[in-house]
Amino acid sequence: MLRELRERMANRAEVRSLTKRCPGLHTDSTLKVKLPQYIKCGENVHIGEGSRLLCWDSYRGERFENPPQISIGSGVRATRNLTIQCASRITIGDNVLIASDVFMVDYNHGMSPLTDSYLENPLDRSDGITIEEGVWIGNNVIILPNVTIGKKSIIGAGAVVTRSIPPYCMAVGNPARVIRKYDSERNEWVRTGVE
Ligand SMILES: CC(C)(COP(=O)(O)OP(=O)(O)OC[C@H]1O[C@@H](n2cnc3c(N)ncnc32)[C@H](O)[C@@H]1OP(=O)(O)O)[C@@H](O)C(=O)NCCC(=O)NCCS
Repeated sequence: MLRELRERMANRAEVRSLTKRCPGLHTDSTLKVKLPQYIKCGENVHIGEGSRLLCWDSYRGERFENPPQISIGSGVRATRNLTIQCASRITIGDNVLIASDVFMVDYNHGMSPLTDSYLENPLDRSDGITIEEGVWIGNNVIILPNVTIGKKSIIGAGAVVTRSIPPYCMAVGNPARVIRKYDSERNEWVRTGVE
């Protein structure tokens, strides 16, 4: 009970520190933040209830050489329950639309099976995640390490994005695969492989 109260107060201080550093961020008291010094936000950013912006700058007592960085562009909207777990770099471009219950993580636990728990392996930090401007991410999408989602692409609800998606593509499923590309001359999303 006391621990819970202490954690809640500590989180409130982290959120205050974040909103002070990022006056363009609009959120509410349910936001959970870890290490706000590594988070930056543009103007007119809305992060909905139950979201979590979490950074790690060390693992099992060892500090990383390069600190983590969450960077959220101007005009980004996240409906609710967005979780970002960042030990490396997660960059969200301007005007990205993020539906509910989206999860992004830019690291894995080291995969040696020789330890008692995978927690004991060093953290495997990736080169990061980049979501370019104007992307729309559907409900319940999971975005894994080393992924870039190109400008204006659409990720369908429930997709697990394991590989990069080029710009102006629509991708769905697990693993996410491109099903359509935007044809600017026809102003239509065209099935891939179909004229
Ligand atoms: C990806 C999406 C935008 C595509 O919409 P659409 O162009 O109307 O797509 P269609 O319904 O014509 O489906 C095209 C094909 O993709 C499949 N598909 C569509 N969405 C899919 C999804 N999320 N996961 C898996 N397959 C999907 C369809 O089954 C269909 O397959 P088929 O050609 O074999 O029949 C839409 O399905 C989606 O997932 N939207 C996200 C909704 C959401 O999260 N809203 C929150 C508001 S912020």
